[in-house]
Amino acid sequence: PQKIIIDTDPGVDDVIALLIAMADKELLDILGITTVAGNVTVDKTSRNARLARDWADRPDIPVYAGASEPIMREPIYAADIHGNEGLSGIKIDTPKYPLAEGHAINFIIDTLLKAEPNSVSIAMLGPQTNMALALKLAPEIKLGIKEIVLMGGSHFSSGNMSPVAEFNIFADPDAAKIVIQSGVPITYIPLDVTGKVLTSNSRIKAITDLKNKAGQIVVDILKQYITHDMKAYHLSGGPIHDANVIAYLLRPDLYTGKKVYVDVDHRPGISQGQTLVDWRNKLKQAANVNWVYDAKDQEIFDLFNRQLGLLK
Ligand code: BDR
Ligand code: CA
Repeated sequence: PQKIIIDTDPGVDDVIALLIAMADKELLDILGITTVAGNVTVDKTSRNARLARDWADRPDIPVYAGASEPIMREPIYAADIHGNEGLSGIKIDTPKYPLAEGHAINFIIDTLLKAEPNSVSIAMLGPQTNMALALKLAPEIKLGIKEIVLMGGSHFSSGNMSPVAEFNIFADPDAAKIVIQSGVPITYIPLDVTGKVLTSNSRIKAITDLKNKAGQIVVDILKQYITHDMKAYHLSGGPIHDANVIAYLLRPDLYTGKKVYVDVDHRPGISQGQTLVDWRNKLKQAANVNWVYDAKDQEIFDLFNRQLGLLK
């Protein structure tokens, strides 16, 4: 199985992504889940990650709490979409198992320093604070990384936080800048593609028909969440942004990307948090990102169902 660290800010679509990832030990060897402030505070994202771990019945996976605020900017949250607790639509219990001891950034560094060269994939589902600080503290960790696959940014679809900025980049643009300049192979799963993998009544019914607890949790989450994005962005169904990162790691053949040069505007101002995508190579810079822009949506939903069907 592919070794992977999942860095996340659950967040409802993060929870769906986590369930899909934790479902199958044969495909993904999840070394740890690291949390970050994003959709809600880091205390809440850490609790929610532990709840997702309970729901997937995976006490073997450690959850480490990470950065409580962005590197430079003031924290911003997305409670309007994800609810005050970050888990709109779901009953919140006390998690069964505790957080792992130690800081997420130290876990990331220690794990990557020990790893075989190019062996660990990093899935990033929230603001990139933890990874950026880890890269600054210990640049040698790059050797252990196979690739970073992250949800963030927008080119063709415009932003969801400003006309040009997507939430994960906007919430910590300095971190995104550090990560993109790191030289590690990076795949961006931006709004351009997450807006093409949309729920529909029949797709939600297929998840309901799994008739298991995990499927029911996903359906309960989606009921609230998709309505928001459908209304806000005039979509025909709801996106499940972060789940695409996991789907990409499991089945990259279901996505189409182009290698391009991308930069992040981290400076305060009207375009802060924008991903500048040089689609036509006007800047004559070497490509630094695999920018995903298309996807086989039905096959991706089939994959989600396959994974969720493995859970209780
Ligand atoms: C991203 O922002 C967050 O609210 C979601 O969890 C997702 O990671 C979408 O822009
Ligand atoms: Ca997220």
